[in-house]
Amino acid sequence: MVLGWRGILREFADHLPLTKDTPLLTLNEGNTPLIEATKLSGMLGEGVRLFLKYEGLNPSGSFKDRGMVLAVAKAVEEGARKVVCASTGNTSASAAAYAARAGLDCLVLIPHGKVALGKLAQAIMYGARVIAVEGNFDQALAIVQEMSMRQQDIILVNSVNPYRLEGQKTAAYEVCRDLGKAPDFLAIPVGNAGNISAYWKGFCEVYESNPSLSRPRMLGFQAAGAAPLVTGQTVDKPETVATAIRIGCPVNREKAIMAVQQSGGIFESVTDREILQAYWLLAEKEGVFAEPASSAAVAGVLKLARSGYFPPGSTIVSVLTGNGLKDPDTAMFKGAKPMILPASLDAIEEALHGELVGV
Ligand code: F0G
Repeated sequence: MVLGWRGILREFADHLPLTKDTPLLTLNEGNTPLIEATKLSGMLGEGVRLFLKYEGLNPSGSFKDRGMVLAVAKAVEEGARKVVCASTGNTSASAAAYAARAGLDCLVLIPHGKVALGKLAQAIMYGARVIAVEGNFDQALAIVQEMSMRQQDIILVNSVNPYRLEGQKTAAYEVCRDLGKAPDFLAIPVGNAGNISAYWKGFCEVYESNPSLSRPRMLGFQAAGAAPLVTGQTVDKPETVATAIRIGCPVNREKAIMAVQQSGGIFESVTDREILQAYWLLAEKEGVFAEPASSAAVAGVLKLARSGYFPPGSTIVSVLTGNGLKDPDTAMFKGAKPMILPASLDAIEEALHGELVGV
């Protein structure tokens, strides 16, 4: 008998479209920690509390696992033999992991040269067929959409697949469970715009069953070079250091706009510089290593706070969508390299000069 967390499908069975034929696939995804960012909170205004929903601790290191477990389980239920996706990296890592677990083939299309190394390594390790296309994510997605329409036994597991959003909404349930209510604001990075839509669905469902828990304002943040929901214009050549959200034409655009409008929230953009500053701050001040796209939401919260956006005493949850370890290249860009010295205490003490005094 195994006690403890049993994964999304079992733990949220009452809220998901499962049938008796849905296999209870799991890698024990979900139940990620909600960490209070005590130092960053102090930068946001009087009595404001910031919490980090650290989705990087899911089995493949991103929030995608919550939706992928359901999408792949449903693909098995429907008798499919292959799943396919386009990806900026995390969807492919997650699809490959769950396909391996379920015994399905997996094909992923990624934008050549624009996927973080760790994510590519994951897809390869899990045994997916990986094709790097000479184009961006939006072009890759158009190709796999057409492919899955032509071939019935290939299931598309991008967030146009409704099961992805159903699974991902479970994070909103966990946030309400851990805070005892909904936060006042939910800050989230937006790329293809599935996750913001999924969270809003989750918060609405929690609210319907218990209106006293209220609902948050949804704050969707995009990188300045890939901000179609902020400008209202599709971006033909999206560009940002946060490659996970390097997307110019989000498929869930309408749902995301509805989430922001209904909740009284906003879309806002942040520059790559602001993203990197938040990325470093999270790691150095809070001990939390999230990938650049995840840091875009924290950058957005810091930006809004500078203009006094948050009323005193507000509670904010920022979703840290992916693990920082996935993107070692951007981490090393910070500049600090290890000093290489002989293996002798004298040499190390000398090199550190006064740094060791009083230790
Ligand atoms: N954060 C990370 C780390 C992501 O990987 C993504 C999307 C997002 C945020 C944005 O979420 O698309 O639901 O608005 N990554 C997709 C992928 C596109 O292929 O891995 P979204």
